[in-house]
Amino acid sequence: MQAVIDYLKQNQSRFIRELCDHVCFPSVSAQPQHRKDLQACAQWLTGHCRQIGLQTSLCPTDGNPVIVARTPRQKSASSRQRPHFLVYGHYDVQPAEPFELWTSPPFEPRIKGRSLFARGASDNKGQHLAHLNAVEAYLKTGTELPCDLTFVIEGEEEVGSKSLARFLRQHRKELRCDAVVISDTGIPSLKHPALTYALRGIAAFEITLRGPARDLHSGIFGGSVDNPAMALCQLLAQLRDENGRIVIPGFYDDVAPLSRFERKELARLPFNDRAYREFLGVPQLFGERGFTPTEQRTARPTLEINGLTSGYQGEGSKTIVPAWARAKVTIRLVPNQNPAPIIKLVHKQLAELCPATVRMEIKSGHGAEPYVVSPGSVKAQAALRALELAFRHKPVLMREGGSIPIVNDFKKILGADTLLLGLALPDDNAHSPNEKFDLDCFAKGQLMSAYLWQELGRG
Ligand code: BES
Ligand code: ZN
Repeated sequence: MQAVIDYLKQNQSRFIRELCDHVCFPSVSAQPQHRKDLQACAQWLTGHCRQIGLQTSLCPTDGNPVIVARTPRQKSASSRQRPHFLVYGHYDVQPAEPFELWTSPPFEPRIKGRSLFARGASDNKGQHLAHLNAVEAYLKTGTELPCDLTFVIEGEEEVGSKSLARFLRQHRKELRCDAVVISDTGIPSLKHPALTYALRGIAAFEITLRGPARDLHSGIFGGSVDNPAMALCQLLAQLRDENGRIVIPGFYDDVAPLSRFERKELARLPFNDRAYREFLGVPQLFGERGFTPTEQRTARPTLEINGLTSGYQGEGSKTIVPAWARAKVTIRLVPNQNPAPIIKLVHKQLAELCPATVRMEIKSGHGAEPYVVSPGSVKAQAALRALELAFRHKPVLMREGGSIPIVNDFKKILGADTLLLGLALPDDNAHSPNEKFDLDCFAKGQLMSAYLWQELGRG
């Protein structure tokens, strides 16, 4: 094991250079013009996996390719079957817009202090590379890996992981495993390594209200026809009360209440109201009554407008009644809510509330169920030991508010639970301008991965 640790230490600067190479690809899955960049990124990653000694295939799908990379299979010395773990990651990234808010271009990595700035550095390229670095250290030093590993790295996580779900069904036999390991969540700080045991689910939709057949002069016609932008604001505003509680009949029916134990655990996470407020730049916090901010953002459902478009967006003014207005909306779900029935409820409520003066269209988007797993399992205990060995601090148990759609498919299709061992810091600016990855998190993540295979291998 010492050889592995030494190898990691000695190769840090090359690992950082490789991370820089990886983040140069603008692999934005939401934007069709980046299809080729996703392919190029997948090819680079395939080459990288082969170079470090993994048996690697670049698998085409109807969408972006999936990379499957296996450690060379060894025979177990005893007759016992060697444990098999799947390591998941994604090479696609969120759109980098608005570009003008980046202090350096999003796909030209810059290192400042201990931070590497680039879109995708934290979510998720740095995090899956950390695992690849650890495995490289085992393979290149000839240290026996106590388990068989298969990396599955996809290119559609940020848009709902549709192709990978199909891929899992087609390859369920080869991918059968004892558990899945994912580093694609966060930790409160370098002093608080964490095992995440729950994620929120998601239900996305796009709503369009159409009014007049074309944009109209608002002086000549305004007053006699409804304004779709106004109607949309009024309609969406009725879905939530002033504290963010969703006011759709039946919406909370399936929400599992938080146990006393969980509330106590979540209350142990570091939190400072003022620092949080200043960090996010808001004049005051917001949220559902009766819950702490940590609970509100990880364990309670929410409804958010992610995008809102209508009318004239250029400079100066243009006096029109716009022909249409559109909003992109997502709802975060918690156990035991399901996206399909929730979307139905929302649809019904919107149909009831929508005035007759506009026509409504709703397009459903991606959906994912929430996820929870027991933090008390033998494997979770092994993961906690690996975290403590690498970070040299006692790990915390936490929930996360974000979603990783594929974790439910791992459970349903492969029967495997997921260990969520994130490496992102709260100020990594995931999905925001100036995303960065902390190079100490990178190094600690490599160590954590190296220890993890030892700890999991012990059985
Ligand atoms: N890495 C995130 C998920 C995440 C981030 C979980 C932080 C917990 C804490 C992932 O890449 C992501 O952003 N997922 C999307 C999924 C959606 C587009 C279907 C999300 O949560 O918005
Ligand atoms: Zn993301």
